[in-house]
Amino acid sequence: METSKFFPNVETPDAGYQKTFKNYDELLSTLPQSKDILGIRGSMLIDDHFKPQPTDIIITTSPKCGTTWLRALVFSIINRHSFDLRDHPLHKANPRELVPFFEAFIHKGGSTPFVDGIPSPRLLSTHLPYSLFPTRMIDDTSACHFVFICRDPKDVLVAKWHFANKLRPKELPPLSLEETFDLFCKGVSHYRPFWDHSPKKVLFLKYEDVKKEPLGCVRKVAEFLGVPFTPEEENKEFVEQIVKQCSFESMSSQYVNKLDKKHQQSSISNSDFFRKGEVGDWVNHLSPQMAENLDQITEQKLQHIGFNFY
Ligand code: A3P
Repeated sequence: METSKFFPNVETPDAGYQKTFKNYDELLSTLPQSKDILGIRGSMLIDDHFKPQPTDIIITTSPKCGTTWLRALVFSIINRHSFDLRDHPLHKANPRELVPFFEAFIHKGGSTPFVDGIPSPRLLSTHLPYSLFPTRMIDDTSACHFVFICRDPKDVLVAKWHFANKLRPKELPPLSLEETFDLFCKGVSHYRPFWDHSPKKVLFLKYEDVKKEPLGCVRKVAEFLGVPFTPEEENKEFVEQIVKQCSFESMSSQYVNKLDKKHQQSSISNSDFFRKGEVGDWVNHLSPQMAENLDQITEQKLQHIGFNFY
């Protein structure tokens, strides 16, 4: 587990955690292969062990919707008084080293003292869908702040396809776009189908809106988290600096985000999280028929919350 000065070391899992791991292993052996293993383990551990605080901020994203970007933005907003924005921690670290990922610390044997030890407001990130959080995290009295970002599923599909092929062992043939498309449309997806990530009591952002109006979106997030920018901060162009430091161009050009897997002793490189960072790259990959099919699924699955991407 990577650690940073912004969050403490992971300690040895305590007995309670070990019991949940055992229950999880038992449950796992009874499930079919395609079940969402990480999601099940993450939600069991959160259910059994996580003690929410009303000041907690949970970044909730479906993979490839802009997690890296949102982590960088929220981290910058919350910690803007801890460093000089011109010498930003993002120059030396990828956002996954700055914002603990629920599933990762749990997976690697995290323990309650680790999460309890994070200073308030605790900033955490997860790919678990909102529907899997226990009531105590989302009810009115102890509700955490959830910041949720979604993205046109056509661009998510293309981003996932590229990402999956980057991580795929070299001895296996590459995944075809058609096969990936078929599974995505059937809802067989890392961390559950995209339509299970629909928002309720959360600040809800669209990747496309943040691209179009980053300044307005950053101000909105700060207000939602109860730390709006003061007139003095506005005069000093804090918002502009945060947007600039978290931009695709700035983040993808940092040395730390160009390192490969061998240097990082990890199965995923920081550079794998930066590809194009554009809206609408799907037109370069999907046929008009594929796009139409996926638009129909999106409309059908998300219409109950009155949501669309167009
Ligand atoms: P593309 O593959 O379409 O380029 P996640 O962080 O949830 O894994 O999402 C990765 C996607 O977000 C990739 O999309 C990546 O290029 C894009 N991305 C990463 N950092 C970004 C940034 N600072 N601004 C905009 N998009 C970014």
